[in-house]
Amino acid sequence: MHEDVERVLLDETAIRDRLAQIGRQITEDYAQEPPILVGVLKGAVMVMSDLARAIDLPVEMDWMAVSSYGSGTRSSGVVRILKDLGTDITDRHVLIVEDIIDSGLTLKWLLSNLRSRGPRSVEVCTMLRKPDAARVEIDVRYVGFDIPNEFVIGYGLDYAETYRNLPYVGVLKRSVYED
Ligand code: PRP
Ligand code: MN
Ligand code: MG
Repeated sequence: MHEDVERVLLDETAIRDRLAQIGRQITEDYAQEPPILVGVLKGAVMVMSDLARAIDLPVEMDWMAVSSYGSGTRSSGVVRILKDLGTDITDRHVLIVEDIIDSGLTLKWLLSNLRSRGPRSVEVCTMLRKPDAARVEIDVRYVGFDIPNEFVIGYGLDYAETYRNLPYVGVLKRSVYED
């Protein structure tokens, strides 16, 4: 375990097993017409990679990069597109893939942005969801794990761009981000 990690919340096996279940569910739900998976950079890279391989359908994959702007605390709810889709999603089934929903503001904005493009459907799959997400009314079709309100890193999730490559989800030691 990394020395900055307080404890492991979800190990590799737990993540793999849950994504396999969700992958089977998605395979059933979209059997009629495969979706285009839209991963939200950068955090969703690991989830996208493992989830896509757990889906037994010819899905497409595309990516968006967004950023909440305004300095200091993130997720002001005002979001800027840093990289847009390369795909026209008109009449397509879209499945957004996220690593975590925290305040829910990023996703709320993303949903209304993608819905304005005339897709056939837009659903959300997130590996993690925090309690505050409940305050924003968003319908999330697939949730890997509901987790407590702690600072988590690993498996795509960063603190100041570090720790994304840890193969598990862990709780970051407070000493790392407090003096
Ligand atoms: C993180 C995370 C989600 C978003 C969730 O991304 O990956 O995309 O925040 O937060 P919210 O529900 O409060 O809006 P971040 O903006 O840190 O960018 P990253 O994916 O590149 O790390
Ligand atoms: Mn993100
Ligand atoms: Mg981040």
